[in-house]
Amino acid sequence: MSGGRSVLFSAAADSYELAVREIRGEFGREVRIQRVGAELGRVDGPSVRDLAAACDAGRIMFVRHLTEEIASFEELPPSYELAEVILGELPQYPEALAVQAWTDDAGTGGSYYHRIEEALTGRGVAVTRSGQEYVVSCFVGRKAILLGLNRRADSLSDWPGGRMRLARGDERVSRSEFKLEEAIATFGLELPAHGKAVDLGAAPGGWTRILRQHGQEVWSVDPGALDPRLRGDRRIHHEATTAGRFFAANRVRFDVVVNDMRMDQVTSARMMLDAAGHLRRDGLAIVTLKGGGRNPLDGARRGLDVLREQYDVRHARQLHHNRNEITVIAHHR
Ligand SMILES: C[S@@+](CC[C@H](N)C(=O)[O-])C[C@H]1O[C@@H](n2cnc3c(N)ncnc32)[C@H](O)[C@@H]1O
Repeated sequence: MSGGRSVLFSAAADSYELAVREIRGEFGREVRIQRVGAELGRVDGPSVRDLAAACDAGRIMFVRHLTEEIASFEELPPSYELAEVILGELPQYPEALAVQAWTDDAGTGGSYYHRIEEALTGRGVAVTRSGQEYVVSCFVGRKAILLGLNRRADSLSDWPGGRMRLARGDERVSRSEFKLEEAIATFGLELPAHGKAVDLGAAPGGWTRILRQHGQEVWSVDPGALDPRLRGDRRIHHEATTAGRFFAANRVRFDVVVNDMRMDQVTSARMMLDAAGHLRRDGLAIVTLKGGGRNPLDGARRGLDVLREQYDVRHARQLHHNRNEITVIAHHR
């Protein structure tokens, strides 16, 4: 894993150009960037660590996964050679590696996963799909198969190309639930034990359900109805009103505020300033700033500027389950 390597970055197909703008804004206009898939680009210049640091700090929001490119093939080579290509890049012979494969469409690249798994286990290296210090990435494109190798710490996500897959059980109240689950897992968030949380724009109650799973008592603010399955829970308080009206009368001090309200970035961020007056110091905020407008990047940046009046922004990223929006993690100052 030497320096000067290309880095492969994943972004939602619709947000690819925004990611390119952000990378050039951070590392200079001369950085070479090439699109190699609907959701994948190759960048030459910045190191994977520098890219990961800019993404972690929220200066680059539309990149959701990174890996350093180590090889490109028309077809994967035979097992022994394939293992050599991978193992020769590592500082030490590993006991275990994660292998993640995906295709240019929505596919999982399952057969490629198994071929790499076979090559590595044949050399005594255990293989899992996640949870290892180093990750082998295999992107199966139309023209080439690209192999990446990266420390998990610099990958942004421990899923193939950042495509987190969550179970779609019958207990799900809304698709939005995935966004909150993904944010909690990706950023390793810990919700306070027995905390009090306010959920702005709560209906039909998906985020409320996830907050309850994390032990929070929840004030669910939305003029819309909550799913009947949530009704019997005495630790859910449905406040059938708008966020502005709720805060005008509220006396509860919250540990957590989450906001998935459908409104433009700046209006939503301003509501978070109202919320800050009801949130304990260092309280956690999780917000989706929704696309809208002709320029979602500038809109998101304006929303973040408003948030920074009262919050330290820790992360800002378009996650796999976000549609036309970014998720922001912040702490009340
Ligand atoms: C995307 S949905 C939220 C989905 C929810 N997070 C879930 O997991 O089920 C957006 C919600 O924002 C609510 N909303 C829009 N403006 C609002 C406001 N000013 N106050 C409270 N809720 C609002 C809408 O009624 C709508 O239910």
